[in-house]
Amino acid sequence: MSRLDDFIDRMVSQRAILNHIRDHLDLPGDGPILEVGLGNGRTYSHLRQCFPDRRIVVFDREVAAHKSCLPDPEDTILGEIRETSRPFMTGQSPLVHSDIGTGYAEKDAAKAAWIADMVAGMLMPGGYAVSDLPLEHPGLVALPLPDGASPRRGYFYRRT
Ligand SMILES: C[S@@+](CC[C@H](N)C(=O)[O-])C[C@H]1O[C@@H](n2cnc3c(N)ncnc32)[C@H](O)[C@@H]1O
Repeated sequence: MSRLDDFIDRMVSQRAILNHIRDHLDLPGDGPILEVGLGNGRTYSHLRQCFPDRRIVVFDREVAAHKSCLPDPEDTILGEIRETSRPFMTGQSPLVHSDIGTGYAEKDAAKAAWIADMVAGMLMPGGYAVSDLPLEHPGLVALPLPDGASPRRGYFYRRT
């Protein structure tokens, strides 16, 4: 598989899972959606469209998003996510989207454990996680993927 194919699979999977949540599931509570890895802001832009009534808080080292989808400063948490995420691990988010894999298997394997702890800590019971990496945590139950999502580039969980 080329890197282009891999990228497309990741994008299509993100969209398929987020659209599935929007169309078929109810987000619990009234806490903020958390976008872990703002990047270019493409997924943030999609989250805003899918969930217009929700606050969305984003995390990254720096803001490099397209000007059309810049989050408000008060919803932009800058710095190393492993540290900046800690105040948000209060079990109040209905939806966490995490997209901070590197594409390097060894690096991602090392990251996956703390990402799983972080995501589980952020989510409220019944909340959903969408991730570019597989997350292993006793509080995260894998859900069936919707049509269109790739089982190797999109991962979908519910918090117990
Ligand atoms: C693949 S991009 C996210 C793309 C985004 N979903 C989009 O639609 O444009 C990953 C982003 O996460 C950030 N990132 C990755 N690991 C991080 C970490 N440990 N701390 C802070 N930012 C991190 C990178 O700076 C990068 O902007």
